[in-house]
Amino acid sequence: MHQVKTICICGAGTMGSGIAMVAAQAGFQSILFDLNDVVLEKAQSNIWASWNALLAKGKINQEDLERFQSQIRFTDKLQDCQADLIIEAIIEKLVAKTDLFRSLEELNPINTILASNTSSISINQIAQHLEHPSRFVGMHFFNPAPVMKLVELVQGDDTNEKVMTLLQAICQKMGKTAVVCKDAPGFIVNRVARHYYLESMWMMASAEENGEELDPASIDKILTATGFKMGPFQLMDLIGMDINYGVSQIVYDALGKPERLKPSPIQAQKVANGQLGKKSGKGFYDY
Ligand SMILES: NC(=O)c1ccc[n+]([C@@H]2O[C@H](COP(=O)([O-])OP(=O)(O)OC[C@H]3O[C@@H](n4cnc5c(N)ncnc54)[C@H](O)[C@@H]3O)[C@@H](O)[C@H]2O)c1
Repeated sequence: MHQVKTICICGAGTMGSGIAMVAAQAGFQSILFDLNDVVLEKAQSNIWASWNALLAKGKINQEDLERFQSQIRFTDKLQDCQADLIIEAIIEKLVAKTDLFRSLEELNPINTILASNTSSISINQIAQHLEHPSRFVGMHFFNPAPVMKLVELVQGDDTNEKVMTLLQAICQKMGKTAVVCKDAPGFIVNRVARHYYLESMWMMASAEENGEELDPASIDKILTATGFKMGPFQLMDLIGMDINYGVSQIVYDALGKPERLKPSPIQAQKVANGQLGKKSGKGFYDY
């Protein structure tokens, strides 16, 4: 297996911009691609602001800042997506992802590793659309990517062992803790964490039905007081309801629609109203 020097990240939204930061900081030549220029500009200004904040706190020096900045390139051209490792972090839609991977296969040599940051789409299902599924893998970072240590490495039926070994070394270089997991619905964290979100929304809905008052802030306050870093509603706003609802639907369907994992009507309503959370300026809270 070849050495990885360049990493291209496709999708410059919440996750892609964070992963690009991590890659550049770890010394990889990084390319951040998005179709949307406005998103790209926002990603660049957020990344620059984060690095400047680290400089102001004395966590990095001026030399580090300049090196990080020189190691990341922003592009809206698919043709620029040529690298040793490509991490896809675009919208959570199977067709969008498979279309992109097919183009990436045409643009890149056979030894380029292709990874998806999908939260819930089956790695084997995406792999079915690829010409060379042995170099395809799930590489699931958590939000915010520069802060959260865990990366779930999802091994598909065809993923080459050497790819798994190489990605574990790359995660280590990025300062991450890699956990290898099977291609199961929601992988590990998103399956267990489903209840954190869903049960909170069902609890709020049933309180309303009973004419009782229970709001997101009260539930968040209680959960954070027990030691969770963020309450479920704060976390859903950070994740983005479009993503959270998509994951809920996929996990529910893939596990045979068990009642305990039924998506909440609140999720559908929030998505329909465009109240996606932090990224849209309004979710359970206003931003
Ligand atoms: N939000 C989270 O907390 C979280 C956590 C872990 C994994 N994920 C996964 O990461 C992926 C991205 O999620 P996000 O929250 O960053 O989404 P997002 O909505 O913030 O960003 C998605 C970006 O993809 C871009 N895009 C769409 N189609 C594209 C294409 N064909 N080529 C290039 N860019 C394209 C959009 O312009 C947008 O900027 C999803 O698969 C999601 O499941 C999300």
